[in-house]
Amino acid sequence: MDRQPKSEFFHILKTQQFDRIILDDLCELTTAIRRFAKTKEGLLYLRGLLAHKRAMLYFTQPSTRTFLSFNNACQILGIQTSEIRDSSTSSEVKGESLLDSLRTFSSYVDVVVMRTKEEGLAENAAALFDTIQRRVPIINAGSGKDQPPTQALLDIYTLERSFKESGGIDGKTIAMMGDLKRGRTVRSLCYLMKNYRKVKLIFIAPDRFRMEEDIKLHLQHHGVEYLESSDLKAMLPQIDAIYITRIQDEHDQAGESKLLDLSAFKFGTEHLRLMKPGGVIMHPLPRRDEIHPDVDLDPRAKYWRQERNGMWMRVAILLKLFKVDHLVMHGHLLD
Ligand code: CP
Repeated sequence: MDRQPKSEFFHILKTQQFDRIILDDLCELTTAIRRFAKTKEGLLYLRGLLAHKRAMLYFTQPSTRTFLSFNNACQILGIQTSEIRDSSTSSEVKGESLLDSLRTFSSYVDVVVMRTKEEGLAENAAALFDTIQRRVPIINAGSGKDQPPTQALLDIYTLERSFKESGGIDGKTIAMMGDLKRGRTVRSLCYLMKNYRKVKLIFIAPDRFRMEEDIKLHLQHHGVEYLESSDLKAMLPQIDAIYITRIQDEHDQAGESKLLDLSAFKFGTEHLRLMKPGGVIMHPLPRRDEIHPDVDLDPRAKYWRQERNGMWMRVAILLKLFKVDHLVMHGHLLD
């Protein structure tokens, strides 16, 4: 029988399932993986670790980074992948339900990574998988407006690495700017902040796209300090990291975001001098015009590194999911 024991680290559905111990563990593992990946010998070692596993990448919502980083993370570990990126090529067009389709994937593979537009689908699929004999893990890479937890994990890693000489995330002031109402990355990241000591959040958003009450209540409940502002320049001198997001106009009802003046929520080179020397600028990408391309040249711009960190963090997640992380943490190449 191909059952796996239930464990805390199985389905990856939402950031609330992670505590500080797991977060620190994943960050340490990601750094160890990157050390292995510096040499051909290390890369060949990684490629043998999960060569007996198969993954389904079910991405019917557009994605560049999340899809490619999971695909490459699988390749790094030797995992073979199958993919569906357009539901019009699957038997959904014959009327098969999404849950039946997902159950079909579980017949063939050892993990399902999914991004779809249907809210709650990842959680529903995980609940279904828990009832069937061949229980395989689900990784939620975005499900409608629901959070993508692995993005938040790579964001945490990028913050921790950027602040490694100044005590990590603890005690830092982190601003989030843009469409905070509909941006699922910022919402996911907020849920993780309770795991860090004395973090202060600053939400900078157009009135219409302010952070929603559920997140604010969560932060209040866990004693995470936050404030709201619409004045980026006034806030910048106290900010250690700014996490910028694009306006999520794919969720507009009738093009309402096109009617707004969003100029106050864009980051240009004129803002750089107001930031701390050790500050960090992040963005989940893709960007439009909310960060000027000239900002890329500043060493505090970490979004391209953040994107690459996503691949390494996803390698770490897969290693931990299949319970072979110790082979990297205690691998012979580290000796
Ligand atoms: N950050 C992110 O989710 O990018 P993609 O939509 O390109 O996957």
